Amino acid sequence: MAEFSLPKNSRVTPGKTIEAAAGAKRARKIRVYRYDPDTNANPRLDTYEIDLDKCGPMVLDAIIYIKNALDSTLAFRRSCREGICGSCAMNIDGTNTLACTKATESIKGDVKIYPLPHLPVHKDLVPDLRHFYAQYASIKPWLQSDSPPPPDRERLQSKEDREKLDGLYECILCACCSTSCPSYWWNSDRYLGPAALLQAYRWLIDSRDEATGERLDELEDPFRLYRCHTIMNCARTCPKGLNPAQAIAEVKKMMVQRTL
Ligand code: SF4
Ligand code: SF4
Ligand code: FES
Repeated sequence: MAEFSLPKNSRVTPGKTIEAAAGAKRARKIRVYRYDPDTNANPRLDTYEIDLDKCGPMVLDAIIYIKNALDSTLAFRRSCREGICGSCAMNIDGTNTLACTKATESIKGDVKIYPLPHLPVHKDLVPDLRHFYAQYASIKPWLQSDSPPPPDRERLQSKEDREKLDGLYECILCACCSTSCPSYWWNSDRYLGPAALLQAYRWLIDSRDEATGERLDELEDPFRLYRCHTIMNCARTCPKGLNPAQAIAEVKKMMVQRTL
């Protein structure tokens, strides 16, 4: 019988614990995945007990407090701290989400923080997103048109055509959806994943774009598009409330419609 076991260096070991200072009124344990590529050590889970009165209300505030006050070696990404840039995406309390919009008080018990799953990790909470961005680039996320623009103004859209982009243009490319998708976990080398496919649909239905046929040709592939099995993790996890699964279903519908 086949036996499966994890490689030794994939096991997460217990790490250090830093207790809250005496007198902390709202002490809370934040357990953070740590991985240092410069050592041969396994990843570990460090525990920082912090006083929530000392930092802002979001998980990102707690992480910034840890870095500033307790452990400057902690690595993570963040920029806008208001749910716009997508860079603070991580797995918090078992769900991929944005640390800057997740309230610490909304989590029961210890706060567990891991990097986005199923990606190589550069360090601590910083995953390697190069492949994810390359897939995004592969769908040519820009307007393609042979018609010249009007000489005196930009290319206009009707109000109705513009509204078709609602639920799509808000995507901040945080990768929460793709890294929650089981199909993407197993086939990310060939399956584009929900984020890139939602973006592909955003350009497919843009009334100003004239490359619809070529765009569909690029997606017509058993893996690139059709590895989506409508499991819906993507829609459940998107911190912007978008529905990549629906966008993927619309692309599949366009594939069928062009054969009729
Ligand atoms: S669809 Fe949502 S979860 Fe996916 S990349 Fe865009 S904003 Fe992030
Ligand atoms: S609906 Fe498709 S893209 Fe979304 S999680 Fe499921 S398989 Fe992945
Ligand atoms: S820091 Fe920009 S989305 Fe969280």
